[in-house]
Amino acid sequence: MIGGVSATQLAAEFGTPLFVIDEADFFGRATAWRDALQGAFGDRAGTVYYAGKSFLCKEITRWLDVVGIGLDVCTGGELAVAKAANFPMSRVEMHGNNKSESEIRSAIEAGVATIVIDSFMEIDRVGAIAKELGKTQRVFLRLTPGVEAHTHEFISTAHEDVKFGFSIASGAAWKAIAEVSSCESLELAGFHSHIGSQIFNSEGFAAAAQKLIALLAQYRDEYKKELPELDLGGGYGIAYLPDQETLVPATVLTELAAVVKAQCAAHGLAVPMISIEPGRAIVGPTTTTLYTVGTTKDVTLDDGAIRRYVSVDGGMSDNIRPALYDAEYHAIIANRSSDAPTVNTRVVGKHCESGDIVIRAIDLAADCGPGDLLAIPATGAYGRSMASNYNHIPRPAVVAVIDGKARLIVRRESHEDLLALDI
Ligand SMILES: Cc1ncc(COP(=O)(O)O)c(C=O)c1O
Repeated sequence: MIGGVSATQLAAEFGTPLFVIDEADFFGRATAWRDALQGAFGDRAGTVYYAGKSFLCKEITRWLDVVGIGLDVCTGGELAVAKAANFPMSRVEMHGNNKSESEIRSAIEAGVATIVIDSFMEIDRVGAIAKELGKTQRVFLRLTPGVEAHTHEFISTAHEDVKFGFSIASGAAWKAIAEVSSCESLELAGFHSHIGSQIFNSEGFAAAAQKLIALLAQYRDEYKKELPELDLGGGYGIAYLPDQETLVPATVLTELAAVVKAQCAAHGLAVPMISIEPGRAIVGPTTTTLYTVGTTKDVTLDDGAIRRYVSVDGGMSDNIRPALYDAEYHAIIANRSSDAPTVNTRVVGKHCESGDIVIRAIDLAADCGPGDLLAIPATGAYGRSMASNYNHIPRPAVVAVIDGKARLIVRRESHEDLLALDI
């Protein structure tokens, strides 16, 4: 059951593969992040910008508006979703390391609250387009604080070999501050950093915040005024497997607030408004993918052991994360219970790639076979949003469930949809 609707009923009504989003869970998580930011930072709480890249459609945008949080978009396409849903542009932040001139123009024309500038060329571009449109655009500078976050640990590095942002250590950030400050059509509102994803403690965020606050103090000393906002990005970790635990918003933000407040006090700075950009932590756990099993096959491994391949009706086209990041998932047989003994199983998709793996190794009931439904939890983030049409497979539908009712929020693509692109 998801949101009071059975998996069997969902599969029968909407087909598989299917993304099923638990609407109440989404509201619960979005509200928890909003309230945790408020609780930790009080009147210094800025905005929770939901990272639209994790999963965005018009209905999600409507839900964000109901909760009263903001939206981080990083392309003209994501901005177009926000516009189509009449999402308030005063709560939209525009990211991207290579925004085109037309994306910058539509963002400024639409009136997005903030553009996060990522390169020197972009300072000139955003400045010129804002000037041409007769506007002063509020901007953040995306900075690389030299904190590299991995799944479970972080390491501080002096050198940052990434395509995003301006390095603090090399002096690029300081030069960017000077350039933005001398541009009349830009208003520097603060700094931004995003240190990575699937982070399970507050230390990496705190280390980044310390570097940014030190730079705020340097800014105050040089420019004799203080910047109003810090955006500390997203990346809060969630559980994908039964033995993992999703970060608790209030815990991580309270720890972060203690460091931010202490650092600001040490530098004699007022605490700026603190904003964050969780994507996965809001939408990831809310969604389950339902697949139908098509075939099974046993192969004998070098050591004589048997591995069972269970093939489902989707795969890397609706979840590229295992192939891209070795991401791990769990599966549950969702149409019945089984007392059968388990067998070492690899759940794979239907694409023409050996790497088309949904779950590399799982003990699954030996009687799992054609027609069974497999439910894969925690597929809400970077699943549908990274989906492709590889092998001309139409992308799955997204269904929202709440209080025993299911409704389509993104329809399934059809072969006609795909053929419609051919000239
Ligand atoms: C700038 C920025 N903010 C926020 C996020 C969201 O990260 P997550 O979904 O892990 O919270 C990302 C993810 O790539 C990002 O690049």
